[in-house]
Amino acid sequence: MPFNPIKGKNNNVTPAKPVTPATTVIPAKAGIQEKEKIKLIMNLIYSHICAAAENNTIGLKGKLPWNIPEDLQFFKEKTQRKILIMGRKTFESLGTPLPYRLNIVITRNKDFQSKIHGSIRLDDTSRISKEEIKTLTTVKKSSPVVICPSVKEAMNLCRQNEIHQQYGKEIFIIGGGEIYKQTLPLVHCIYLTRIHQTYEGDAFYPEIPDKDFQEVDRKDCKGNPSYSFITYKRV
Ligand SMILES: NC(=O)c1ccc[n+]([C@@H]2O[C@H](COP(=O)([O-])OP(=O)(O)OC[C@H]3O[C@@H](n4cnc5c(N)ncnc54)[C@H](OP(=O)(O)O)[C@@H]3O)[C@@H](O)[C@H]2O)c1
Repeated sequence: MPFNPIKGKNNNVTPAKPVTPATTVIPAKAGIQEKEKIKLIMNLIYSHICAAAENNTIGLKGKLPWNIPEDLQFFKEKTQRKILIMGRKTFESLGTPLPYRLNIVITRNKDFQSKIHGSIRLDDTSRISKEEIKTLTTVKKSSPVVICPSVKEAMNLCRQNEIHQQYGKEIFIIGGGEIYKQTLPLVHCIYLTRIHQTYEGDAFYPEIPDKDFQEVDRKDCKGNPSYSFITYKRV
């Protein structure tokens, strides 16, 4: 059963459902990590990766309000050679496509592609050409950028066999606030760096619903500010 987590209009999202085909039996007593591992083998997994302050601030005027090199290193290691989905404002705040990763940018602006040298615009990813697939699956420093009109089209692209065979089945949604909010019902995993301070912001991470997510891993780190690397999995 293909995982089709979004239907209808762009921001009409359907909550994540178990994604394992009916033929796969997950032992009833399997722990949460074991269950997630089985799902990962069978299907695509969408994960958020985010750094958020105690008041859920993630950005101010297009920038991160803190400087924590260890968090940037964590992000780099986690997302290397993976597919990244991001909003147009986050892409602009990065300033350049992230190397050795497939960068998918979501925008409603039909002219945006013309601003990004060498990018590919895919309005209907089911009509992707062999040539485009070849370009997108060539992993290199000057990463390919795909411009998509919706999260739904971005996810359709991820489902193309050649694409996830190259980049793996865990897809990283890297923000910002608008995109995190729209996709929270779809993700199975959240890698959250919680910064233990409050900051003024204009972009925010949504509240993580306790009933839907469980903390499965945590590493507390000293610093100024101190922070914690926390992993949540969908219950
Ligand atoms: N702390 C962190 O981990 C982290 C991570 C990422 C970003 N950030 C920060 O977050 C801020 C940016 O977040 P943001 O919420 O302002 O913007 P964003 O989510 O990055 O991008 C918003 C844009 O995405 C496009 N978009 C959103 N929903 C769409 C939909 N359903 N269909 C088509 N296009 C859609 C629109 O682009 P158009 O206007 O072009 O149509 C919209 O303006 C920055 O300050 C950045 O530094 C922080």
